[in-house]
Amino acid sequence: MRKAVLELEKFDLKLNTNFVGRNFIYCEEIDSTNTYLMDRENKNNTDGTVILAEKQTEGRGRKNRVWYSAKEQNLNFSILLTSKKYFGKNLNLINLASSLAVSQAIENLYQLNAELKWPNDVLIKGKKVCGILLEASSQGSKIDKVVIGIGLNVNQSMFQGEFNLPPTSIKIEANENIERERLLAEVLNNFEELLEKSISKPSEVLREWKSRCRMIGEKISITENDETKYGIFDDIDENGFLLLKSRNNQIEKIHLGDVSI
Ligand code: BTN
Repeated sequence: MRKAVLELEKFDLKLNTNFVGRNFIYCEEIDSTNTYLMDRENKNNTDGTVILAEKQTEGRGRKNRVWYSAKEQNLNFSILLTSKKYFGKNLNLINLASSLAVSQAIENLYQLNAELKWPNDVLIKGKKVCGILLEASSQGSKIDKVVIGIGLNVNQSMFQGEFNLPPTSIKIEANENIERERLLAEVLNNFEELLEKSISKPSEVLREWKSRCRMIGEKISITENDETKYGIFDDIDENGFLLLKSRNNQIEKIHLGDVSI
């Protein structure tokens, strides 16, 4: 059997979590790591399971977009959450905690400024370095699992195709080859800590998220389902929703959408 490209021992040594990533599934190729964890057939995975694929043949982005990523260069993985305690008020805080975990890891390890774009993109100098796709399933009216899919551009040096935001990678921005094992462990360590904080101190998660979002106070447009709204990005409320201030100073709560300045 071919040796894993990702050095699992190196990753394990840096992983400092109680449950996130403790059950770790490593694949060379899969359709999509999100699809795998969302599939009811694969139901024996424990809370905090992480599946990472070196190549996805049907990687999915938000709004049914395709997620392209060069084989073995980046970190494309999904985290499974099954513990109901995290599904409290809404899932937006998990969304914000995930992107915050990635941006903190990029800043701590490579001293790069990683900004956040609502609801969950991570940008470096205005270019997208990471996208997150959060999906959930429910039994009756209750959410029974949440899958957080993270596509982080790490060592890819060229991007081809059309993108709604120009892409970049950490290697391009830091000008060095990045050790994926350490970065993955750092993201998961941060994520578990922020997940606990989203229950014990949600306002702190929001405060940290907002401090990395340069769009607050700016004129924006927000598009959802072919409808575009314009206004000032006023704030994020306590549940993680975007508050859009219109010309007549009315505040509208936005649940989903693509934001542009
Ligand atoms: C976006 O920006 O539109 C979200 C992209 C999310 C991509 C990740 S890669 C790992 C996981 N598996 C998928 O099929 N998608 C997510």
